[in-house]
Amino acid sequence: MADSITIIDNRTGESIEVPILDGGVDSTEWRKLLPGIWFYDPALMTTAVASSSITDLDGENGILRYRGYPIEQLAEQSTYLEVAYLLIHGELPTAEQFAPWKHDITYHTFIHENVRKRFLEGFHYDAHPMGMLVSAIAALSTFYPDAGDIHDPAGRYKQIVRLIAKMPTLAAACHRFSVGMPFVYPDNSLSFTENFLSMLWKVAEPRYDANPALAKALDVLFILHADHEQNCGTTAMRTVGSAHADPYVSTASAAAALYGPRHGGANEAVIHMLTEIGSIDAVPAFIESVKQGHGRLQGFGHRVYKSYDPRAAIIKQTADEVFAITGKSPLLDIALALEDVALSDDYFTSRKLYPNVDFYSGLIYQAMGFPIEMFTVLFAIPRAAGWLAHWVELLEQDQRIARPRQLYVGPGVRDYVAIDQRG
Ligand code: ACO
Repeated sequence: MADSITIIDNRTGESIEVPILDGGVDSTEWRKLLPGIWFYDPALMTTAVASSSITDLDGENGILRYRGYPIEQLAEQSTYLEVAYLLIHGELPTAEQFAPWKHDITYHTFIHENVRKRFLEGFHYDAHPMGMLVSAIAALSTFYPDAGDIHDPAGRYKQIVRLIAKMPTLAAACHRFSVGMPFVYPDNSLSFTENFLSMLWKVAEPRYDANPALAKALDVLFILHADHEQNCGTTAMRTVGSAHADPYVSTASAAAALYGPRHGGANEAVIHMLTEIGSIDAVPAFIESVKQGHGRLQGFGHRVYKSYDPRAAIIKQTADEVFAITGKSPLLDIALALEDVALSDDYFTSRKLYPNVDFYSGLIYQAMGFPIEMFTVLFAIPRAAGWLAHWVELLEQDQRIARPRQLYVGPGVRDYVAIDQRG
């Protein structure tokens, strides 16, 4: 076979030829030859944990496609709700298919009063909104007794609609609570992002009409963040989902992973970094300190992208549109200078470190008035669609429970010693 590898067990001389299919070698074949021998890959850097037809990511060439559609075309011509449909169902909706989808998402935006009154209002006054969101998503599981009915496609659809629809409501509620403002109910006459902005910013006016350009910019950001194949959060979703946990607690586990500063928390870290740098003049010294190993250039580098993150390129353009309305962020010039210096520095180019999606997104969120603690929450809202698409795919593939092996390196067997005899 031309497209295959041969594994030889030098202990026995036995060999096995394994075909390379879709860029991978199926472990069901080679593990027959190596019983009790495990591939040591703690960060799953060389392990494909799924075969998936949702997102196509070519990190070497900076390509990102959802169900085959280039991210650039979707960002320019589609909407988040349409993209969510595409991710979940595999195809763009026809007008007849889109109408009920939009209706269902719009009419499931309300949350049970006890989610707000008992859970969200029970948090400490300075609770991080991402911690609140993770807990609230998990709590939803207890409000929908049918959530565990994961084998029925109609039941699955119901929970998917609820989750996608309620994410902005929960997110806005977390923000309002953290700034001591009263909860705002969803307005079903508004679009997905307009409604979210209304729940965030409405004060006493009967109806909050968001600036359409800002609502559009947020929609583009939602499209860009909707999925990114087997990242840490999605892997958590698939792992927990493989235990047949319900979609709410599975989504909460994915959101918990996203909360980490190495993952969805990086946009927050970018703003802290730019604020700390403080001026364009300080950029060269900062770059030098990073090269000396003192910290990292936040918003730079990616496990998979080894060229410019295509989402960062779109975001940079969206930033200009937002700043035309809100006024330019004083940190933008520092960010641009940092990018210029880094992209012409051998340390960064030789390691293929380029701006990622988080480098500019925080600047946009900040210009739109979001507090820094909300940045990861803004990431989680649209990512729910991607997580749920992977959850459905996993169930349809009837994947077995995820259960990796370990290489035990601890002590051998030893006898228990009573506490008064331990030296
Ligand atoms: N600044 C400076 N040096 C870096 C950076 C960075 N941002 N990222 C990687 N490097 C260097 C490392 O020091 C290492 O150098 P070495 O070979 O001399 O030791 C080399 O590049 C490879 O780095 P790894 O840590 O092995 O790369 P990995 O793929 O494990 O990490 C990650 C990827 C976590 C994204 C990393 O680039 C990073 O920490 N970036 C900053 C945080 C960030 O922006 N995260 C958002 C990612 S996008 C997302 O999750 C939505």
